[in-house]
Amino acid sequence: MTIKTFLIGMLASFGVAWMCIIAIPAAKMSALSPVKMNVEDEDAPYYQRKVAGRVMSGAAIYGANGCYYCHTQLIRPTYLGRQIWRKDAAGIYDKDEGIDTRRETSHYDYKDEDFARVGRMRVGPDLSNFGHRAEMYAATAGMSPAQWVMEHLYNPRNSELFVGNEGQKTDMSWSNCPSQKQMFDENNLNGQGDSLAISGQTTESTEVIPNEQALILTSYLLTLKRDDILPDMLANKPKDVDVKEEN
Ligand code: HEC
Repeated sequence: MTIKTFLIGMLASFGVAWMCIIAIPAAKMSALSPVKMNVEDEDAPYYQRKVAGRVMSGAAIYGANGCYYCHTQLIRPTYLGRQIWRKDAAGIYDKDEGIDTRRETSHYDYKDEDFARVGRMRVGPDLSNFGHRAEMYAATAGMSPAQWVMEHLYNPRNSELFVGNEGQKTDMSWSNCPSQKQMFDENNLNGQGDSLAISGQTTESTEVIPNEQALILTSYLLTLKRDDILPDMLANKPKDVDVKEEN
């Protein structure tokens, strides 16, 4: 084998893989064509995903701190797994109220983001719909959703965070979600103190409060709700969705 054939062979084996796995998908994702809310109606508006600037900065902090190593943001297509039925993962489902926002992830859910935060492994829960869960956890724990997220960022092993309907606490001392203490500062206590001060950390003269990073990351986490109305062709949901929920 000459060096030339060797080099061509190397280029072909790595180049083809790079084309198929990186270049083609990246080109396709960055040029998503607009989709009409209703394909049959000529005057129908186009689907527009709404994300605010602060949320985009939150996504960058999420990426920089490696949250995607353990958290996915991807509800798989049903032919690859039964994720639509996982409780509170794919959306909210309340039969009595007639609410059902469960659906698979669409590639349009990442539109306009620098990176699709699909995630590497699912060590912790999928966060596609964490915004809804944060509201539920916060209500049972008796705090605001933002406060709940701050408390979790500061100390994920806080067993006061997951409270059952009858007030029973869940032991979280096993959690390997890394604490983000670098996003909090110890401040002098002034007057009544900060409304987002971390519980149990306030002394006579100091309190622990979230810094800008924690505030932005929290805003981002609270917006993680895949419940906007999608055009029919993107709202992937299997037809027999009304099946018993699985955990
Ligand atoms: C080493 C893996 C790992 C990394 C990295 C990680 N987490 Fe976690 N996370 C977990 C595990 C496991 C849980 C479940 C236990 C718990 O609630 O603490 C969890 C739970 C959570 C929850 C609560 C979700 C729910 O619905 O119960 C949030 C919010 C969260 N993580 C945010 C983050 C953020 C933000 C980052 C990045 C700064 C991050 N995690 C990085 C493993 C990880």
